[in-house]
Amino acid sequence: MHQPTRRLMLALCASMVLTGAHAQSVAPAPLPRVIILATGGTIAGTGASSTTTVGYTAATVGVQSLIKAVPELAKVAQVSGEQVFQIASENMSNEHWLTLAKRVNVLLARADVDGIVITHGTDTLEETAYFLDLVVKSRKPVVLVGAMRPSTALSADGPINLYNSVLLAASPEAVGKGVLVAMNDQIQAARDITKTNTSTLDAFRTPELGMLGYIQGSKPFFYRQSTRKHTVDTEFDIAGLNALPMVEIVYGYANVGPVAVDAFVAAGAKGIIHAGVGDGSLAAKVLPALKAARQKGAIVVRASRVGQGILARNGEANDDELDFVAADTLNPQKARILLMLALTRTSNSKDIQRMFYTY
Ligand code: SIN
Repeated sequence: MHQPTRRLMLALCASMVLTGAHAQSVAPAPLPRVIILATGGTIAGTGASSTTTVGYTAATVGVQSLIKAVPELAKVAQVSGEQVFQIASENMSNEHWLTLAKRVNVLLARADVDGIVITHGTDTLEETAYFLDLVVKSRKPVVLVGAMRPSTALSADGPINLYNSVLLAASPEAVGKGVLVAMNDQIQAARDITKTNTSTLDAFRTPELGMLGYIQGSKPFFYRQSTRKHTVDTEFDIAGLNALPMVEIVYGYANVGPVAVDAFVAAGAKGIIHAGVGDGSLAAKVLPALKAARQKGAIVVRASRVGQGILARNGEANDDELDFVAADTLNPQKARILLMLALTRTSNSKDIQRMFYTY
């Protein structure tokens, strides 16, 4: 049938159903069910006055108050909240991550849960997001959100960020995209996002690789997607884990010596992330300590403190000969997460290098 004619007939039929003697009321589809897991941070913070945007107290407002402060949430999802922790995110630990990830996996396995939002301090938000990206076993949306200003501040960003994150977690477009971050009207991928400013609202960025999209007019708009494997496509399973292997970060700088590497190894570190200068260069005074660490069984990953670019394997050091691993584009704090999880599967450096090029 000719398309305009068909459309007209459908419209006529619809109007007959709506206005005729046998009109039936069609119940609107129920809104998606989104659970907000609150962990603290500035989004739940309070300051002494409305102009206090630094020097406030993080993690004081409970999840029910966060939800109550944004009545618009009820228009986009059936929302409920759970207070998982109430901490400033500098205190986030491996144990917190395991508890959180297990709760996310339990909730997402339920047929009546469509998505999860996690409110979080911004200081380590990128780390929690990447950890979850590697261990959540569901394609349903998981969205992390924080705020740069406390809830009591003039133009606090928490309420709009929370609204956008619930909207995103409830949206079919977010399914299968891995763990996402919704801040400042932008959608970003857990693997690549990083905090780039101590205080401004646009602190969260994905340097060079770019964000995934925007949230505008109560709609998510996606433009790109990460090619790295995540969530259901990873080989990591935290179900039976109560702890993660000890992996520490050593920073590179002028005049650096071996003390930190030696101390971490003596304390039992199973892995060292070297956040080197430039393309992960190793200072002459540090190299022997890293070699000794490797000989004692610790995995050494060369990362860079620069913040952008690929760490070239066999570039500034002969990784093949040293049996070291290159961090690819992961920043040191994310390389630590991947190495911890890798060590739950293997201690083979070549297999671990494969993981760094996969996730
Ligand atoms: C925190 O990370 O918990 C404090 C800082 C913030 O949320 O912006």
